[in-house]
Amino acid sequence: MDYGCDRDNPTHPCGGFGILWKMKNKLILAIDGPAAAGKSTVAKLVAKKLNITYIDTGAMYRAFTLFVMQKGVDPQQQLLCEALIPQVKILLAPTGEVYLNGQDVSKEIRDPKVSSQVSYIASYKAIRLALVDLQRHMAGNQSVVMDGRDIGTYVLPEANIKIFQIASVETRAVRRYEENLSKGITCTLESVEEDLRHRDYIDSHRDFAPLKPANDSILIDTSFMTVHEVVERILEIVHKKVGTIHA
Ligand code: CDP
Repeated sequence: MDYGCDRDNPTHPCGGFGILWKMKNKLILAIDGPAAAGKSTVAKLVAKKLNITYIDTGAMYRAFTLFVMQKGVDPQQQLLCEALIPQVKILLAPTGEVYLNGQDVSKEIRDPKVSSQVSYIASYKAIRLALVDLQRHMAGNQSVVMDGRDIGTYVLPEANIKIFQIASVETRAVRRYEENLSKGITCTLESVEEDLRHRDYIDSHRDFAPLKPANDSILIDTSFMTVHEVVERILEIVHKKVGTIHA
């Protein structure tokens, strides 16, 4: 896997992840949970408030899935998908865009066709290992908020704070449905709910690094919370646990 970043150049879109950042404290905040639990919305806002880097690991699995589909490979054919690893270069820009082999695919990776296949790709060990390597490399020696399924259990088990964010599947379906509509993505509420159930099942039943709370994670049920309330709750946990962050 090519990291696609110039490790010693802070002006490169990767933000110069290779540079040793001078910090008094380093914060690693892991936010895991099932599909459409609002992790990325919350993680982005928390990272902004703390002025630290946000890393969306789901976007990487989505970008890989898009590549598989563009190549006309069946996402359920593990060996064929894994054989594509050397051809995939994924870059997450600090400004939030997702690049696949130099192309901005930020919009395409949210397509329901990608969503419906991504959990197969994410269950293949060789692909996970390649993307986890990239995730750890990006986290480097800086403070980060990273969201996904296995961040607290596998990717960054040394995280200072581990949040496991949940919500009922009905609530999550309504949220994702409304999000899709606002982005001009055509779907039905039923198809969204079915997709979430399907992905949650595959994500939590795969052999390698499945979706599950870490033993030391803090559970936040956001079913009846606003985004603002969840962000405030997490910031409160951060301040209690590690005090002021110097990123
Ligand atoms: O935004 P949403 O909750 O729909 O999902 P996502 O975070 O974009 O992740 C898409 C898919 O990638 C998940 O359903 C998982 O199959 C996979 N994934 C994973 O296996 N491990 C991660 N750390 C992040 C995502």
